[in-house]
Amino acid sequence: MPATPTLETRDLTIRFGGHVAVNAVSCAFQPGTLTAIVGPNGAGKTTYFNLISGQLRATSGQVLLRGQDVTGLTASARTKQGMGRAFQLTNLFPNLTVMENVRLAVQSRAGAGLQLLQLWSHRHDLIEKADSLLDAVRLLDKRNATAGALPHGDQRKLEVALLLALEPDIFMFDEPTAGMSVDEVPTILDLIHSIKARGDKTVLLVEHKMDVVRSLADRIIVLHNGSLVADGEPAAVIASPVVQQAYLGLPADGSAAA
Ligand SMILES: Nc1ncnc2c1ncn2[C@@H]1O[C@H](COP(=O)(O)OP(=O)(O)OP(=O)(O)O)[C@@H](O)[C@H]1O
Ligand SMILES: [Mg+2]
Repeated sequence: MPATPTLETRDLTIRFGGHVAVNAVSCAFQPGTLTAIVGPNGAGKTTYFNLISGQLRATSGQVLLRGQDVTGLTASARTKQGMGRAFQLTNLFPNLTVMENVRLAVQSRAGAGLQLLQLWSHRHDLIEKADSLLDAVRLLDKRNATAGALPHGDQRKLEVALLLALEPDIFMFDEPTAGMSVDEVPTILDLIHSIKARGDKTVLLVEHKMDVVRSLADRIIVLHNGSLVADGEPAAVIASPVVQQAYLGLPADGSAAA
């Protein structure tokens, strides 16, 4: 029998008025795997993430974390249970420096809470941890910059550092390289690859770029009009008529578009 999935959704559904944005999506995610979630604009990918992380409440269906129903829990309760999501800049403290932001995240993970930054100077282990996270996202040289003044790509890298600091079991990335310059993209993709390579983390990645999906994903699921329409090994899913037609906009017979 397969192990209990880290994360599972059962018939997960949300309606906005008459519009069903996520429609009875049932899917399970195992540790050590990276699942790419693809689909056209408005397919429901971000809404699916919002339902999983607790930003939105489902109209019906369930979210299970290690087999436990967390559908009724708040986003922060789910975070405490190991769900990690990079939120487009909303969890940055814009007036603090890059290093102070990471310190606070490391400190809160270490159980020290959001206490005064001054106490920090006694915790060399935490300082080293913060430095290694900034190094991982290639932001060490900007450690004293004010977070709110960073270019967009650097802010996204900082977001990833904050997510890493929390050491979640589940990593959710929603278009993590959006807004990054070409030379910044490999840093983030390498990091995501290294998270997956650890073998114990469950990674979900919403990504439009098929080359990125191909290089990172063990599995692809496809959402279309809120429904899960394909699920499987990357090459097979990409080649499937439903993806060729619904997502890539190619003819259903798989022939090349003019
Ligand atoms: N809070 C909301 N209220 C009403 N409709 C919403 C809300 N959030 C999302 N929707 C609608 O739900 C549908 C799915 O949106 P969603 O943002 O999840 O798509 P997506 O797959 O992430 O698209 P993209 O690739 O453009 O990011 C869209 O039709 C969107 O307009
Ligand atoms: Mg989206």
